[in-house]
Amino acid sequence: MAGCEHSLFSCLLRGIFSTESSSLLLPLMLLNGCLNLHRPAVALQVIGGNATVAQGETAILPCKLTDAKEPLTQISWQRMTRGKPVNDNFFTVVPSGPNYVNGADRRFKFIGNFSAHNGSLQLSDVTLLDEGSYSCIFTLFPSGNHRTEIPLNVLVPPDTSVKDYHPFMGNEEVLLATCTAAGSRPPAEVKWTYSTLSEKVKAITNTTQHANGTTTTLSSLFGVPTRDINQQPVICVVTSSALSKAETLLLTLQVHFSPTEVNISEISEDSFECLTEANPNASFTWSRPGQSWPPSTVRVDGAKLQLLSITSDLNGLYKCEASNLYGRKHGQLYVYVTSGTCTACWVLFSLLLILIPIGVGAWWYFKKHPRTEESTREERQRVQTSSSPEEEQGESMQRAAGVEEENRV
Ligand SMILES: *[C@@H]1O[C@H](CO)[C@@H](O)[C@H](O)[C@H]1NC(C)=O
Ligand SMILES: *[C@@H]1O[C@H](CO)[C@@H](O)[C@H](O)[C@H]1NC(C)=O
Repeated sequence: MAGCEHSLFSCLLRGIFSTESSSLLLPLMLLNGCLNLHRPAVALQVIGGNATVAQGETAILPCKLTDAKEPLTQISWQRMTRGKPVNDNFFTVVPSGPNYVNGADRRFKFIGNFSAHNGSLQLSDVTLLDEGSYSCIFTLFPSGNHRTEIPLNVLVPPDTSVKDYHPFMGNEEVLLATCTAAGSRPPAEVKWTYSTLSEKVKAITNTTQHANGTTTTLSSLFGVPTRDINQQPVICVVTSSALSKAETLLLTLQVHFSPTEVNISEISEDSFECLTEANPNASFTWSRPGQSWPPSTVRVDGAKLQLLSITSDLNGLYKCEASNLYGRKHGQLYVYVTSGTCTACWVLFSLLLILIPIGVGAWWYFKKHPRTEESTREERQRVQTSSSPEEEQGESMQRAAGVEEENRV
Protein backbone atom coordinates (compact mmCIF):
# COMPACT_ATOMS: atom_id res chain seq x y z
CA MET A 1 0.00 0.00 0.00
CA ALA A 2 3.04 2.26 -0.04
CA GLY A 3 1.87 3.62 -3.40
CA CYS A 4 -1.24 4.99 -1.78
CA GLU A 5 0.69 7.74 -0.11
CA HIS A 6 1.48 9.34 -3.46
CA SER A 7 -1.87 10.28 -4.82
CA LEU A 8 -5.46 9.27 -4.76
CA PHE A 9 -5.32 8.96 -8.51
CA SER A 10 -2.55 6.36 -8.61
CA CYS A 11 -4.32 4.52 -5.89
CA LEU A 12 -7.58 4.31 -7.73
CA LEU A 13 -5.69 3.08 -10.77
CA ARG A 14 -4.06 0.35 -8.77
CA GLY A 15 -7.40 -0.69 -7.41
CA ILE A 16 -9.08 -0.81 -10.76
CA PHE A 17 -6.27 -2.62 -12.48
CA SER A 18 -5.62 -5.06 -9.76
CA THR A 19 -6.05 -8.09 -11.99
CA GLU A 20 -4.93 -10.67 -9.45
CA SER A 21 -8.11 -9.91 -7.52
CA SER A 22 -10.84 -12.47 -7.92
CA SER A 23 -13.25 -10.35 -5.90
CA LEU A 24 -15.03 -7.23 -6.96
CA LEU A 25 -14.79 -5.98 -3.39
CA LEU A 26 -11.05 -5.59 -3.41
CA PRO A 27 -10.95 -2.40 -5.52
CA LEU A 28 -13.49 -0.88 -3.14
CA MET A 29 -11.40 -1.80 -0.11
CA LEU A 30 -8.33 -0.30 -1.68
CA LEU A 31 -10.29 2.82 -2.47
CA ASN A 32 -11.29 3.12 1.19
CA GLY A 33 -7.75 2.63 2.34
CA CYS A 34 -6.51 5.22 -0.06
CA LEU A 35 -9.02 7.81 1.07
CA ASN A 36 -7.99 7.32 4.71
CA LEU A 37 -4.33 7.39 4.04
CA HIS A 38 -4.66 10.39 1.85
CA ARG A 39 -5.58 12.67 4.75
CA PRO A 40 -2.74 14.93 5.94
CA ALA A 41 -0.11 12.63 7.43
CA VAL A 42 0.02 14.64 10.66
CA ALA A 43 -3.44 15.50 11.99
CA LEU A 44 -4.43 17.23 15.20
CA GLN A 45 -5.27 14.64 17.89
CA VAL A 46 -6.47 14.68 21.47
CA ILE A 47 -5.03 11.62 23.18
CA GLY A 48 -6.67 10.36 26.35
CA GLY A 49 -6.65 6.91 27.89
CA ASN A 50 -8.35 4.66 30.35
CA ALA A 51 -7.95 4.97 34.07
CA THR A 52 -8.66 2.08 36.44
CA VAL A 53 -7.96 2.56 40.08
CA ALA A 54 -8.86 0.97 43.39
CA GLN A 55 -11.06 2.95 45.74
CA GLY A 56 -8.97 5.23 47.96
CA GLU A 57 -6.06 5.39 45.53
CA THR A 58 -4.92 8.13 43.14
CA ALA A 59 -5.97 8.16 39.49
CA ILE A 60 -4.27 9.93 36.59
CA LEU A 61 -6.59 11.23 33.87
CA PRO A 62 -4.20 11.60 30.92
CA CYS A 63 -4.92 14.06 28.14
CA LYS A 64 -2.64 15.51 25.47
CA LEU A 65 -3.12 17.56 22.33
CA THR A 66 -0.75 16.82 19.46
CA ASP A 67 -0.03 18.44 16.16
CA ALA A 68 -2.14 21.54 16.66
CA LYS A 69 -1.15 24.42 14.39
CA GLU A 70 -3.58 26.94 15.90
CA PRO A 71 -3.15 28.72 19.21
CA LEU A 72 -4.59 27.06 22.35
CA THR A 73 -6.90 29.30 24.37
CA GLN A 74 -8.24 26.96 27.10
CA ILE A 75 -8.25 23.39 28.40
CA SER A 76 -11.45 22.38 30.15
CA TRP A 77 -12.69 19.26 31.90
CA GLN A 78 -16.22 17.91 32.17
CA ARG A 79 -17.47 14.80 33.91
CA MET A 80 -20.47 12.51 34.06
CA THR A 81 -20.01 10.26 37.06
CA ARG A 82 -21.99 8.19 39.51
CA GLY A 83 -21.91 11.17 41.89
CA LYS A 84 -22.52 13.83 39.17
CA PRO A 85 -24.86 12.14 36.70
CA VAL A 86 -25.46 15.37 34.74
CA ASN A 87 -22.62 16.68 32.60
CA ASP A 88 -20.63 18.87 34.93
CA ASN A 89 -17.92 21.42 34.11
CA PHE A 90 -15.49 21.21 36.97
CA PHE A 91 -12.04 22.38 35.92
CA THR A 92 -10.42 24.78 33.44
CA VAL A 93 -6.86 25.68 32.61
CA VAL A 94 -6.02 28.98 30.94
CA PRO A 95 -2.55 30.40 30.20
CA SER A 96 -2.52 32.07 33.64
CA GLY A 97 -3.21 28.78 35.48
CA PRO A 98 -5.79 26.16 36.56
CA ASN A 99 -9.17 26.98 38.12
CA TYR A 100 -11.89 24.97 39.82
CA VAL A 101 -15.37 25.49 38.40
CA ASN A 102 -18.63 24.96 40.36
CA GLY A 103 -16.85 24.52 43.68
CA ALA A 104 -13.37 23.40 44.51
CA ASP A 105 -12.86 19.64 44.78
CA ARG A 106 -9.26 19.79 45.91
CA ARG A 107 -8.68 16.14 45.19
CA PHE A 108 -8.20 17.23 41.56
CA LYS A 109 -4.77 18.56 40.72
CA PHE A 110 -3.49 19.81 37.37
CA ILE A 111 -0.37 17.83 36.50
CA GLY A 112 -0.12 18.91 32.85
CA ASN A 113 1.50 21.89 31.19
CA PHE A 114 -0.54 24.44 29.26
CA SER A 115 2.16 25.47 26.83
CA ALA A 116 3.12 21.84 26.20
CA HIS A 117 -0.55 21.09 25.41
CA ASN A 118 -0.77 18.60 28.25
CA GLY A 119 -4.07 18.80 30.14
CA SER A 120 -3.62 15.78 32.48
CA LEU A 121 -5.33 15.77 35.87
CA GLN A 122 -4.65 13.79 39.00
CA LEU A 123 -7.50 12.70 41.28
CA SER A 124 -6.58 11.48 44.74
CA ASP A 125 -8.65 9.49 47.22
CA VAL A 126 -10.93 8.10 44.54
CA THR A 127 -14.38 6.91 45.61
CA LEU A 128 -17.02 4.93 43.76
CA LEU A 129 -18.90 8.20 43.17
CA ASP A 130 -16.01 9.37 40.95
CA GLU A 131 -16.52 6.50 38.54
CA GLY A 132 -17.72 7.62 35.12
CA SER A 133 -16.57 9.45 32.04
CA TYR A 134 -14.27 12.48 32.00
CA SER A 135 -14.05 14.76 28.94
CA CYS A 136 -10.91 16.68 28.22
CA ILE A 137 -11.51 19.61 25.84
CA PHE A 138 -8.86 21.72 24.08
CA THR A 139 -10.22 25.00 22.73
CA LEU A 140 -8.24 26.26 19.76
CA PHE A 141 -8.69 29.48 17.82
CA PRO A 142 -10.38 29.58 15.39
CA SER A 143 -11.32 25.90 14.94
CA GLY A 144 -12.96 25.57 18.38
CA ASN A 145 -13.25 22.49 20.65
CA HIS A 146 -11.39 19.21 20.27
CA ARG A 147 -12.20 16.60 22.88
CA THR A 148 -11.66 13.07 24.09
CA GLU A 149 -13.32 10.91 26.72
CA ILE A 150 -11.41 9.26 29.51
CA PRO A 151 -13.33 6.52 31.31
CA LEU A 152 -12.49 6.13 35.00
CA ASN A 153 -13.19 2.69 36.46
CA VAL A 154 -13.14 2.28 40.22
CA LEU A 155 -12.41 -1.11 41.71
CA VAL A 156 -13.62 -2.01 45.17
CA PRO A 157 -11.99 -5.09 46.70
CA PRO A 158 -14.48 -7.25 48.59
CA ASP A 159 -14.53 -7.77 52.34
CA THR A 160 -14.15 -11.49 52.66
CA SER A 161 -15.21 -13.73 55.51
CA VAL A 162 -16.16 -17.31 56.30
CA LYS A 163 -18.57 -18.49 58.92
CA ASP A 164 -19.00 -21.96 60.36
CA TYR A 165 -22.48 -22.93 61.51
CA HIS A 166 -21.24 -25.99 63.50
CA PRO A 167 -24.50 -27.95 63.27
CA PHE A 168 -25.37 -30.75 65.65
CA MET A 169 -24.83 -34.23 64.22
CA GLY A 170 -27.82 -35.50 62.25
CA ASN A 171 -28.92 -37.13 59.03
CA GLU A 172 -30.58 -34.30 57.18
CA GLU A 173 -28.85 -31.77 54.98
CA VAL A 174 -28.14 -28.49 56.76
CA LEU A 175 -26.10 -25.33 56.27
CA LEU A 176 -22.51 -26.06 57.27
CA ALA A 177 -20.70 -22.82 56.39
CA THR A 178 -20.90 -19.64 54.36
CA CYS A 179 -18.27 -17.64 52.54
CA THR A 180 -18.94 -13.98 51.73
CA ALA A 181 -17.27 -11.48 49.43
CA ALA A 182 -19.08 -8.27 50.36
CA GLY A 183 -19.27 -5.02 48.39
CA SER A 184 -17.05 -5.95 45.47
CA ARG A 185 -16.78 -4.09 42.19
CA PRO A 186 -16.63 -5.78 39.78
CA PRO A 187 -18.45 -8.73 41.38
CA ALA A 188 -16.22 -11.34 42.99
CA GLU A 189 -16.33 -15.04 42.28
CA VAL A 190 -16.63 -17.25 45.35
CA LYS A 191 -15.78 -20.94 45.17
CA TRP A 192 -15.23 -23.71 47.66
CA THR A 193 -12.59 -26.39 47.34
CA TYR A 194 -13.15 -29.52 49.36
CA SER A 195 -11.30 -32.37 47.72
CA THR A 196 -12.06 -34.90 50.44
CA LEU A 197 -15.74 -34.07 50.61
CA SER A 198 -16.78 -33.75 46.98
CA GLU A 199 -19.81 -36.03 47.26
CA LYS A 200 -20.81 -35.05 50.75
CA VAL A 201 -21.31 -31.31 50.39
CA LYS A 202 -22.65 -28.89 47.85
CA ALA A 203 -22.39 -25.15 47.40
CA ILE A 204 -25.09 -22.67 46.43
CA THR A 205 -24.08 -19.15 45.47
CA ASN A 206 -26.21 -16.01 45.60
CA THR A 207 -25.39 -12.45 44.61
CA THR A 208 -26.89 -9.17 45.80
CA GLN A 209 -26.35 -5.92 43.91
CA HIS A 210 -26.14 -2.75 45.94
CA ALA A 211 -27.30 0.67 44.78
CA ASN A 212 -23.72 1.99 44.91
CA GLY A 213 -22.63 -0.44 42.19
CA THR A 214 -21.00 -3.05 44.39
CA THR A 215 -22.08 -6.66 44.62
CA THR A 216 -22.06 -9.08 47.53
CA THR A 217 -21.51 -12.72 46.66
CA LEU A 218 -22.44 -15.34 49.25
CA SER A 219 -21.70 -19.01 48.82
CA SER A 220 -23.37 -21.45 51.21
CA LEU A 221 -22.06 -24.94 51.82
CA PHE A 222 -24.66 -27.60 52.59
CA GLY A 223 -24.22 -31.19 53.71
CA VAL A 224 -25.39 -33.87 56.12
CA PRO A 225 -23.67 -33.21 59.46
CA THR A 226 -21.98 -36.53 60.15
CA ARG A 227 -18.81 -37.45 62.03
CA ASP A 228 -17.07 -37.89 58.62
CA ILE A 229 -17.45 -34.21 57.94
CA ASN A 230 -16.31 -33.07 61.37
CA GLN A 231 -12.83 -31.51 61.32
CA GLN A 232 -12.58 -31.68 57.53
CA PRO A 233 -10.78 -28.70 56.01
CA VAL A 234 -12.50 -26.65 53.32
CA ILE A 235 -11.13 -23.63 51.50
CA CYS A 236 -13.08 -20.69 50.15
CA VAL A 237 -11.41 -18.99 47.19
CA VAL A 238 -12.44 -15.43 46.32
CA THR A 239 -11.31 -13.98 43.02
CA SER A 240 -11.99 -10.53 41.61
CA SER A 241 -10.13 -8.14 39.35
CA ALA A 242 -10.32 -5.77 42.32
CA LEU A 243 -8.00 -8.14 44.23
CA SER A 244 -4.34 -8.36 43.22
CA LYS A 245 -4.46 -12.09 43.92
CA ALA A 246 -7.10 -14.62 44.87
CA GLU A 247 -7.94 -14.70 48.56
CA THR A 248 -8.13 -18.08 50.22
CA LEU A 249 -9.98 -18.52 53.47
CA LEU A 250 -9.50 -21.74 55.39
CA LEU A 251 -12.14 -23.31 57.54
CA THR A 252 -12.32 -26.56 59.46
CA LEU A 253 -15.87 -27.86 59.43
CA GLN A 254 -17.29 -28.53 62.87
CA VAL A 255 -20.08 -30.97 63.56
CA HIS A 256 -21.13 -30.92 67.18
CA PHE A 257 -21.92 -34.09 69.10
CA SER A 258 -22.14 -35.24 72.69
CA PRO A 259 -19.36 -37.40 74.22
CA THR A 260 -19.02 -40.83 72.66
CA GLU A 261 -18.03 -43.77 74.83
CA VAL A 262 -15.64 -42.97 77.64
CA ASN A 263 -12.51 -45.08 78.08
CA ILE A 264 -10.12 -44.97 80.98
CA SER A 265 -6.56 -45.73 80.07
CA GLU A 266 -3.64 -46.39 82.37
CA ILE A 267 -0.88 -43.88 81.71
CA SER A 268 1.42 -45.21 84.45
CA GLU A 269 1.18 -47.60 87.40
CA ASP A 270 -0.65 -45.13 89.53
CA SER A 271 -2.31 -42.75 87.12
CA PHE A 272 -5.19 -42.95 84.71
CA GLU A 273 -6.70 -40.84 82.01
CA CYS A 274 -10.27 -40.54 80.92
CA LEU A 275 -10.73 -40.40 77.13
CA THR A 276 -13.68 -39.60 74.92
CA GLU A 277 -14.56 -37.89 71.69
CA ALA A 278 -16.87 -34.92 71.74
CA ASN A 279 -17.33 -31.62 69.96
CA PRO A 280 -16.98 -29.16 71.60
CA ASN A 281 -14.38 -30.93 73.74
CA ALA A 282 -15.72 -32.61 76.82
CA SER A 283 -14.86 -31.54 80.32
CA PHE A 284 -14.21 -34.29 82.85
CA THR A 285 -15.26 -34.81 86.43
CA TRP A 286 -13.95 -37.60 88.62
CA SER A 287 -15.92 -38.81 91.60
CA ARG A 288 -16.35 -41.81 93.90
CA PRO A 289 -20.02 -42.69 94.00
CA GLY A 290 -21.31 -42.70 97.52
CA GLN A 291 -18.06 -41.56 99.07
CA SER A 292 -16.66 -38.21 100.02
CA TRP A 293 -14.45 -36.49 97.45
CA PRO A 294 -11.65 -35.83 97.08
CA PRO A 295 -9.83 -38.39 99.19
CA SER A 296 -6.48 -37.07 100.41
CA THR A 297 -4.68 -39.91 98.63
CA VAL A 298 -5.91 -39.01 95.15
CA ARG A 299 -4.96 -36.12 92.90
CA VAL A 300 -7.18 -35.06 90.01
CA ASP A 301 -6.13 -32.87 87.09
CA GLY A 302 -8.85 -32.57 84.44
CA ALA A 303 -9.13 -35.96 82.74
CA LYS A 304 -6.27 -37.39 84.83
CA LEU A 305 -6.48 -39.26 88.11
CA GLN A 306 -3.40 -40.05 90.18
CA LEU A 307 -3.30 -42.36 93.19
CA LEU A 308 -0.78 -40.95 95.62
CA SER A 309 -0.39 -43.83 98.07
CA ILE A 310 -1.34 -47.43 98.09
CA THR A 311 -3.73 -48.12 100.89
CA SER A 312 -6.96 -49.98 101.11
CA ASP A 313 -8.68 -46.60 101.58
CA LEU A 314 -8.43 -46.29 97.84
CA ASN A 315 -10.54 -49.35 97.20
CA GLY A 316 -13.72 -48.83 95.35
CA LEU A 317 -15.28 -47.39 92.29
CA TYR A 318 -14.06 -44.22 90.55
CA LYS A 319 -16.27 -42.58 88.04
CA CYS A 320 -15.20 -40.24 85.26
CA GLU A 321 -17.93 -38.21 83.68
CA ALA A 322 -17.33 -36.54 80.31
CA SER A 323 -19.77 -33.81 79.35
CA ASN A 324 -20.34 -30.99 76.93
CA LEU A 325 -23.39 -28.85 76.30
CA TYR A 326 -25.10 -31.64 74.34
CA GLY A 327 -24.83 -34.49 76.83
CA ARG A 328 -22.69 -36.63 79.08
CA LYS A 329 -21.36 -40.14 79.49
CA HIS A 330 -19.21 -41.78 82.06
CA GLY A 331 -16.56 -44.42 82.49
CA GLN A 332 -15.62 -46.29 85.64
CA LEU A 333 -12.53 -47.60 87.25
CA TYR A 334 -12.53 -50.14 90.05
CA VAL A 335 -9.57 -50.00 92.38
CA TYR A 336 -8.86 -52.92 94.66
CA VAL A 337 -5.75 -53.07 96.81
CA THR A 338 -5.40 -56.64 98.13
CA SER A 339 -2.95 -56.00 100.97
CA GLY A 340 0.24 -54.26 101.93
CA THR A 341 1.87 -51.61 99.78
CA CYS A 342 2.79 -53.67 96.76
CA THR A 343 1.79 -51.80 93.63
CA ALA A 344 1.75 -54.99 91.60
CA CYS A 345 -1.02 -56.26 93.77
CA TRP A 346 -3.58 -53.79 92.50
CA VAL A 347 -6.48 -55.01 90.64
CA LEU A 348 -7.83 -52.36 88.41
CA PHE A 349 -10.76 -52.45 86.22
CA SER A 350 -11.79 -49.96 83.75
CA LEU A 351 -15.30 -50.44 82.65
CA LEU A 352 -16.98 -49.22 79.57
CA LEU A 353 -19.48 -46.67 79.85
CA ILE A 354 -22.92 -46.14 80.53
CA LEU A 355 -24.70 -43.75 78.38
CA ILE A 356 -26.73 -41.13 80.07
CA PRO A 357 -28.60 -39.22 77.46
CA ILE A 358 -29.10 -35.83 78.92
CA GLY A 359 -29.67 -32.62 77.10
CA VAL A 360 -31.53 -31.52 74.04
CA GLY A 361 -28.82 -32.53 71.61
CA ALA A 362 -28.81 -36.12 72.71
CA TRP A 363 -32.58 -36.25 72.71
CA TRP A 364 -32.58 -34.93 69.18
CA TYR A 365 -29.97 -37.37 68.03
CA PHE A 366 -31.87 -40.40 69.29
CA LYS A 367 -35.10 -39.12 67.93
CA LYS A 368 -33.52 -38.99 64.49
CA HIS A 369 -32.05 -42.49 64.72
CA PRO A 370 -34.65 -45.22 64.68
CA ARG A 371 -33.64 -47.83 67.25
CA THR A 372 -34.54 -51.44 67.76
CA GLU A 373 -37.01 -52.52 70.43
CA GLU A 374 -34.20 -53.86 72.51
CA SER A 375 -32.04 -50.82 72.42
CA THR A 376 -35.01 -48.63 73.16
CA ARG A 377 -35.68 -50.66 76.27
CA GLU A 378 -32.04 -50.47 77.23
CA GLU A 379 -32.19 -46.76 76.74
CA ARG A 380 -35.09 -46.44 79.09
CA GLN A 381 -33.26 -48.43 81.73
CA ARG A 382 -30.29 -46.20 81.41
CA VAL A 383 -32.37 -43.11 81.77
CA GLN A 384 -33.87 -44.56 84.90
CA THR A 385 -30.44 -45.42 86.13
CA SER A 386 -29.22 -41.92 85.62
CA SER A 387 -32.14 -40.48 87.51
CA SER A 388 -31.27 -42.67 90.46
CA PRO A 389 -27.58 -42.47 91.31
CA GLU A 390 -27.81 -45.06 94.09
CA GLU A 391 -29.19 -47.64 91.77
CA GLU A 392 -26.63 -46.88 89.11
CA GLN A 393 -23.86 -47.32 91.57
CA GLY A 394 -25.26 -50.65 92.76
CA GLU A 395 -25.45 -51.97 89.23
CA SER A 396 -21.94 -50.83 88.41
CA MET A 397 -20.53 -52.39 91.52
CA GLN A 398 -22.14 -55.67 90.58
CA ARG A 399 -20.61 -55.48 87.16
CA ALA A 400 -17.23 -54.65 88.58
CA ALA A 401 -17.48 -57.59 90.92
CA GLY A 402 -18.39 -59.78 87.97
CA VAL A 403 -15.28 -58.77 86.09
CA GLU A 404 -13.18 -59.22 89.17
CA GLU A 405 -14.39 -62.76 89.59
CA GLU A 406 -13.67 -63.58 86.00
CA ASN A 407 -10.18 -62.29 86.40
CA ARG A 408 -9.52 -64.44 89.36
CA VAL A 409 -10.56 -67.63 87.58
C1 LIG B 1 -10.58 1.28 27.84
O1 LIG B 1 -11.74 0.74 28.44
C2 LIG B 1 -12.67 0.22 27.52
C3 LIG B 1 -13.89 -0.17 28.26
O2 LIG B 1 -13.57 -0.72 29.47
C4 LIG B 1 -12.02 -0.94 26.76
O3 LIG B 1 -12.91 -1.45 25.82
C5 LIG B 1 -10.77 -0.45 26.08
O4 LIG B 1 -10.10 -1.52 25.48
C6 LIG B 1 -9.84 0.21 27.08
N1 LIG B 1 -8.71 0.81 26.40
C7 LIG B 1 -7.48 0.75 26.87
C8 LIG B 1 -6.45 1.45 26.08
O5 LIG B 1 -7.20 0.16 27.90
C1 LIG C 1 -22.11 -0.05 49.01
O1 LIG C 1 -23.34 -0.37 49.59
C2 LIG C 1 -23.31 -1.44 50.51
C3 LIG C 1 -24.74 -1.74 50.92
O2 LIG C 1 -25.43 -0.59 51.25
C4 LIG C 1 -22.42 -1.06 51.68
O3 LIG C 1 -22.37 -2.11 52.60
C5 LIG C 1 -21.02 -0.77 51.15
O4 LIG C 1 -20.19 -0.35 52.20
C6 LIG C 1 -21.06 0.30 50.07
N1 LIG C 1 -19.73 0.38 49.49
C7 LIG C 1 -19.15 1.50 49.17
C8 LIG C 1 -17.80 1.38 48.60
O5 LIG C 1 -19.69 2.59 49.31
